Amino acid sequence: MFSLKDKVAVVTGASQGIGRDTALALSGAGAKVAVAARNEGKLAVLVKDIVAKGGEAFAMKMDVSDAEQVKAGFRQVLEKFGRLDILVNNAAITRDGLAVRMKADDWDAVIRTNLTGAHLCIQQALPTMMKARAGRIINIASVVAQMGNAGQANYVAAKAGLIGLTKAIAMEIASRNITVNAVAPGFVETPMTDLLGAKVKDDLKTRIPLGRMGSARDVAAAIVFLASDEAAYITGHVLDVNGGMYLA
Ligand SMILES: NC(=O)c1ccc[n+]([C@@H]2O[C@H](COP(=O)([O-])OP(=O)(O)OC[C@H]3O[C@@H](n4cnc5c(N)ncnc54)[C@H](OP(=O)(O)O)[C@@H]3O)[C@@H](O)[C@H]2O)c1
Repeated sequence: MFSLKDKVAVVTGASQGIGRDTALALSGAGAKVAVAARNEGKLAVLVKDIVAKGGEAFAMKMDVSDAEQVKAGFRQVLEKFGRLDILVNNAAITRDGLAVRMKADDWDAVIRTNLTGAHLCIQQALPTMMKARAGRIINIASVVAQMGNAGQANYVAAKAGLIGLTKAIAMEIASRNITVNAVAPGFVETPMTDLLGAKVKDDLKTRIPLGRMGSARDVAAAIVFLASDEAAYITGHVLDVNGGMYLA
């Protein structure tokens, strides 16, 4: 339904989970996809899967928390595809713990990857998008940015910061016809949530009106929509994909 034919997308954190399904969904809608993460082996498998389905993709080993690697990565995208239309800032980590005992390294790593990483990628993507007077930036936030979560002060602060960043850049860049939105997933079945035990997951499901955890494909579908021409008049928005768990 939503065609992304001839568009070029960058997806960070594409080696697994939501990022991987997002790359597949963007490719399925016709986009060429540069898939970025640190694990080259997993990226190579993803590129193979995309090509096997008739799509075009290339793997970019890129740590989003490293400004030089981000610069080099976006240079590669332009060399390879000659344009950049869609940026999905999806890469993230967790380093959970109670705030009172949180180690400085755990705070810094999460802020640097989940928030500064998105800022660094946006900085590299914007000049190309501004020249083209078109672009879509989609930041993957989280329901916990809206409702809080004990034991995740670093992650929640980074994700709430990402929502603020989304709104600020949306206002800065709207005159150039670039939209900037966030997707806020609820609890989604991915390697990130595999760490939660069965009991925690069962308890979580009782708090989700739709009665199940989300799938990576549920989130990818929202991202494809926000990347499409049909979403041209939506900017600075936070799209909840949470099964009704939190009604903002
Ligand atoms: N799963 C959920 O329930 C849920 C809920 C709300 C929001 N989210 C958000 O959705 C997004 C995807 O989550 P997920 O569940 O799919 O997580 P995941 O399975 O843990 O995947 C995270 C991805 O980020 C990449 N990554 C981590 N650090 C990176 C770095 N420094 N540079 C580049 N890539 C990096 C990882 O790849 P490498 O290790 O190969 O670098 C991996 O591909 C995240 O932003 C997460 O916060 C998830």
